[in-house]
Amino acid sequence: MNALELLKQDHRKVKDLLSELDSTSEGDAGRREELFSTVKDELKVHEIIEEEILYPALKEHPKAREIVLEGIEEHNVVDTLLGDMVSLSVEDETWAAKLAVMKENVEHHIEEEEEEMFEKAQDIFGDDELAAMGAKMQERKKSAESEVKG
Ligand SMILES: [Fe+2]
Ligand SMILES: [Fe+2]
Repeated sequence: MNALELLKQDHRKVKDLLSELDSTSEGDAGRREELFSTVKDELKVHEIIEEEILYPALKEHPKAREIVLEGIEEHNVVDTLLGDMVSLSVEDETWAAKLAVMKENVEHHIEEEEEEMFEKAQDIFGDDELAAMGAKMQERKKSAESEVKG
């Protein structure tokens, strides 16, 4: 799987998990906590492979620099919301408000990556480079998963 395919596969998974999480109710705190923990870990691992492998390579290219810098800031916003949510009860109404904002941010970010950033990456890198990056990501994903889950 090449790097862009791998990242898009992660995106589908995160979007599905967020929709599922969004449909849980306050009364089902156990399920909410479980899904939240899964989506949080998925997002962290995904950010790690993007920020360590795709973004630095892409940032070297002037036509992609701005979108990469924006992408990093968008990751930071999501990380802040995730951090806030960890310290709140899933039954808190503020938690649900933060989830709604986090979901919107993630969806917007995914759209921008797929429609703008990945298009640029496709132009900049050759098939061999994208394949090599994909292999590197697959490898890094394994170690990142254990780091994130602690
Ligand atoms: Fe991203
Ligand atoms: Fe992404």
